[in-house]
Amino acid sequence: MKKIVKIGLIGWGTVGGGLVKILKTNAHLIEERLGGKLEIKAIADKDIVSPRSIEIDKKLLTTDVESLLHDPEIDIIVELIGGKEPARTYLLEAIKEGKHIVTANKALLAECGEIFKAAGKRGVNIGFEGSVGGGMPIIKVLKEGLVANRMEAILGIINGTANYILSRMTSEDKDFQEVLAEAKRLGYAESDPAMDVEGTDSAHKLAILASLAFGTRVKLNDIYVEGIKEITQADIRYAKEVGYSIKLLSIAKENQGRIEARVHPTLLPQEHLLASVNGVFNACFLTGDAVGNILVYGQGAGEMAAGSAVAADLVDLARNILSGTPHRVPVLTYPLGAAKMKPMKETLCRYYLRFSVLDRPGVLGSISNLLGKKDIGIASVIQKERREEDIVPIVIMTHEAKEENIRIALQKIDQLAVVKAKTMLIRVED
Ligand code: HSE
Repeated sequence: MKKIVKIGLIGWGTVGGGLVKILKTNAHLIEERLGGKLEIKAIADKDIVSPRSIEIDKKLLTTDVESLLHDPEIDIIVELIGGKEPARTYLLEAIKEGKHIVTANKALLAECGEIFKAAGKRGVNIGFEGSVGGGMPIIKVLKEGLVANRMEAILGIINGTANYILSRMTSEDKDFQEVLAEAKRLGYAESDPAMDVEGTDSAHKLAILASLAFGTRVKLNDIYVEGIKEITQADIRYAKEVGYSIKLLSIAKENQGRIEARVHPTLLPQEHLLASVNGVFNACFLTGDAVGNILVYGQGAGEMAAGSAVAADLVDLARNILSGTPHRVPVLTYPLGAAKMKPMKETLCRYYLRFSVLDRPGVLGSISNLLGKKDIGIASVIQKERREEDIVPIVIMTHEAKEENIRIALQKIDQLAVVKAKTMLIRVED
């Protein structure tokens, strides 16, 4: 009986290095748990000369990706180059060759349903634990651990860079730009940090999680996305005053057959478990009808954490290959049809609104009047005394209101002569 599963690795970068380290360091332990061996047969990369943090047999390295894709001895192709092309072409080719695949490529999986379709058609499996939450095993939790639940909600902190920036802005009174520069220097941010701070990376990951959780395909375009660039020190301070922290949350909920999916800065009560997830850590707070609430927490990125997720996928696929049951757990938990989405304008939540207004009699009255006309109730108000400037902030926490109504009311309020800047809106999750 076959006892060795052979792997072709495409991408000899940070995560690839972490994976090789883990497979080397824990080889004995993995072999015992698997009842067989995982062997890296070849590693392909454009650059096979620059020094890496781990030494390997040079004979394994090649610049010829095709030689891996067409090697009949290779059972699993691991793709760790990221980006859409050429990763997409390589994966489709590997699938065509009948190889199982492992990838951490969130952008590709979120935007390219054809990878899943092709794998299903060819009867091969895909491991993608590394695509969301780094070392935090959230995919397995959704696909297997919670398989008997009707999932109700996902609240996730799934971008470490954005969480690092907001955490440091909160704990050290620093500004956004200053902390972003530090995140870049420390290597947390994506090569294009816009993906992190504008919420796109979170949206890619949420598309994957929501699809698994609700059993239908949630596409990237179905997700409402706002980033953290507009959050100021003042917002962080006012939020604190009313007992909240600001987090970039990825939220997906199912209600009466419709799914809402959104990524945006969110005021979370300081006592919420997610409010204490700081720095580059990721966490997902999940609600299932049987299990209730659960929290999954871990390092969202980094060589060893992401390597751990990829290695777990390899062991999973290898177990199936060795036992002759490669489809024990299906690629997806859902049919490939499109999800029935709830439009953003129908979202119901509470809002934090920060108005920049002239300090004149009747201003608060005009604002509350326009909010009241759209059925928006006020839960609390903060107004500080004027210092040198004539413009003062007024912060209003609303009761639950409809997104569409808030937008109409703010459009009118922002046209008032006494309102001197676009009103800041942050949604609240209680
Ligand atoms: N840039 C991502 C993050 C890395 O900050 O979470 C892992 O996807």
